[in-house]
Amino acid sequence: MFTTALTPRDITKTATGLPYDLFEAIKALKKELNAIILAHYYQDSDIQDIADYIGDSLELSRKAANTDADVIVFAGVHFMAETAKILNPNKLVLLPDLNAGCSLADTCPPKEFAAFKAAHPGHLVVSYINCSADIKAMSDIICTSSNAVKIVNQIPENQPIIFAPDRNLGRYVMEQTGRNLVLWQGSCMVHETFSEKKIIQLKIQHPEAEVIAHPECEPPVLRHANFIGSTTALLKYSQACSSNKFIVATEPGIIHQMQQREPKKHFIPAPPMNNCACNECPHMRLNTLEKLYLAMKNRAPEIVLPEETRVAALQPIQRMLEMSV
Ligand code: 13P
Ligand code: SF4
Repeated sequence: MFTTALTPRDITKTATGLPYDLFEAIKALKKELNAIILAHYYQDSDIQDIADYIGDSLELSRKAANTDADVIVFAGVHFMAETAKILNPNKLVLLPDLNAGCSLADTCPPKEFAAFKAAHPGHLVVSYINCSADIKAMSDIICTSSNAVKIVNQIPENQPIIFAPDRNLGRYVMEQTGRNLVLWQGSCMVHETFSEKKIIQLKIQHPEAEVIAHPECEPPVLRHANFIGSTTALLKYSQACSSNKFIVATEPGIIHQMQQREPKKHFIPAPPMNNCACNECPHMRLNTLEKLYLAMKNRAPEIVLPEETRVAALQPIQRMLEMSV
C-alpha cells in the first residue's frame, strides 16, 4: 500500500524548506512577532510590496522612532537598520543580510574621520545618515538628503561646519545655502556611475522628458536635472509634475513606486557608464524575500551595538528629528 501521502504541512514547503507562499508566511510571522517591516525604495519590488511602510531615510527613521512593534525588520542597508537600533535599544532589529552595507558609508572610516575632525577645531559636524554608528557618535547633527539644506540653514552663519561623508550632497547643500562647508570627500558607487553622455543622448531622444536626480549624483549629471531631491521628493515630483516622461538618476528600485502611482507615465532609468547593472545598489539588492522570511523565522541576523556608541550616536539623530519637523 502507498503510505507516503503528502500532508497539507508538506505541500506548503519547497524542496529547500522554504514555504511556497513566502508572502503568506511572512504575514503570519509578522503577527506572531508583532513585527513591522520597513523598506527603502531601493529594495526589490516584492520586498516593497510586503512592507508595512516604504520611505526614504528620513521617513524610515521617523517610523522607527515611533513604532510600537516589538520587532523591526529593516529591509534596507546596515546604516538604516543601525539607526533604528540606536533609536530602539530594547527592540529586536533584524536586517535580512548583514552584509548589506553602503559604499558611501565605507568611504568614511572612523579613525581617519577622527583625525579630520581634530584638524578642524571649532567646526560643527553635520553627517549624512549614510555613515556608521561610529561616525554618528562623532557628529553633532545627522541629516538626510531630504533635510540637509533645512538643517544647515538653521545653524548660525558664523559657525564653521564639517559636512560628511558625501561630497556631492555637501556640494549641493553649499549651492543651496550659500554656506562654505568643509567636505569629507566620500561618494556613492551607484550615484557616481551615471553617464552624462548617455543622459544627454536620452534627452535628445526624448526631448519632452524631465531629468530628476538624487543629490548624491556627480555635478555633471546634476547640471542636467530639472529637479533634484531625496527619493521621496523625486517620487512626489514625478506625481505632481505635468510631464509624462522622466529620466530617473537614482537607484532604479524607486521606479516601482513611481510606476505604481503613475501607471500612464513613462520612467527611464538613467544609464550607467558601462554596460552593466551598476546603477542598482549591490548592497540593497543583497536583501531578498527569502532572506527576509528567514530573518523573521530565525530572529536573526540582529543589529547589535556597543551601548557607549549607541548613546553617543543617539543625540545627533534626535537633533535631526527635532530640526526637521
Ligand atoms: P534617501 O535619503 O533618498 O533615502 O537616500 C538614501 C540613499 O541611500 C541614497 O543613495
Ligand atoms: Fe549606499 Fe549608494 Fe547604496 Fe545608497 S545607493 S545605500 S548611498 S551604496
